[in-house]
Amino acid sequence: MPEIIILAIESSCDDTSAAICVDGKVVSNLTANQHVHEQFGGVIPELASREHTKNIIPVVAEAIKQAGISKNQIHAVAFTRGPGLLGSLLVGGIFAKSFAQAMQVPLIDVHHMQAHVLAHFIDAPMPAFPFLCLTVSGGHTQIVLVNDYLDMKVIGTTIDDAAGEAFDKTAKMLNLPYPGGPLIDKYAQLGNSAAFKFTEPQIEGFNFSFSGLKTNILYFLQKELKQNPNFIDENLNDICASVQHTIVSILIKKLLKASKETTINEIAIAGGVSANLGLRNALTETGKKNNWKTYIPQFQYCTDNAGMISIAAYHKYLRNEFCPIDIPIKARLEF
Ligand code: KG4
Ligand code: ZN
Repeated sequence: MPEIIILAIESSCDDTSAAICVDGKVVSNLTANQHVHEQFGGVIPELASREHTKNIIPVVAEAIKQAGISKNQIHAVAFTRGPGLLGSLLVGGIFAKSFAQAMQVPLIDVHHMQAHVLAHFIDAPMPAFPFLCLTVSGGHTQIVLVNDYLDMKVIGTTIDDAAGEAFDKTAKMLNLPYPGGPLIDKYAQLGNSAAFKFTEPQIEGFNFSFSGLKTNILYFLQKELKQNPNFIDENLNDICASVQHTIVSILIKKLLKASKETTINEIAIAGGVSANLGLRNALTETGKKNNWKTYIPQFQYCTDNAGMISIAAYHKYLRNEFCPIDIPIKARLEF
């Protein structure tokens, strides 16, 4: 049987990424990160689109080069259709459509959040179906019931902010640059997670809420700063450790509830926040106590990357799920 070679492109937010996968194996995966947003405390959509237009051609060219193939060997082109920032998605989407049309190969649209889940099928160990995946990123917090590669159901979601936003907004209050999640993670390792107490929300079912926690942290900092203007500098590690502990505890409690009620013990985490060491350790510990088989992606496949898009596309290719060239890009897109 001939090999199936897929070029995949991811541009939903502020990372421009391209990957090549051959028969379901990621052989190159390149990402250009955008540092232009650091000073603004969040992604500026217009700047993100402009950076994508600068990065997309060199990133794709390098992914093809590193895979050791020529562009004539590509059988299909995949791209993230949504959800994400419209201008950012358009750059990757239009590039993919043009490339596919020029090379006369089929086009595959990929759902960004499904691709985060399918990052677990890039390398072994791979979860067995059905499994639960806690997908935590800058824009989403979901518990997903995964029945098959392309058969997934969101059984819990955030009713306001995402877990990544809780990290990033806390970091902004602490005067740390964007994205603050990795920095909170770094300082948390040096701090005492029991130093400060924050309130965990009581939300029904498998849903999450993080906006109350954000307000709780803001009022706490305002009160402490009134008494001691150096409070943040003097307590940065302990604040980060305590906030991280609270966010992780909220996430893990809902996973426990979902596992109990579905009786599923195959438990995975995915998305940018799954790079968090506190969450990774808590999942492993909770897994040991509850007889779970746990799955944690390699760091390079937690945050946005085209490798995960290529794997999702490979499974769509096997099922002949191609899309028309005029398929619209969607900033909001359900499963
Ligand atoms: O999946 P992702 O790269 O992009 C989206 O689809 O949103 O996730 C980005 C989010 C950001 O909020 C970032 O702060 C967070 O993931 N993040 C982390 C860590 N690494 C990335 N949050 C906590 N700890 C980390 N180590
Ligand atoms: Zn993402």
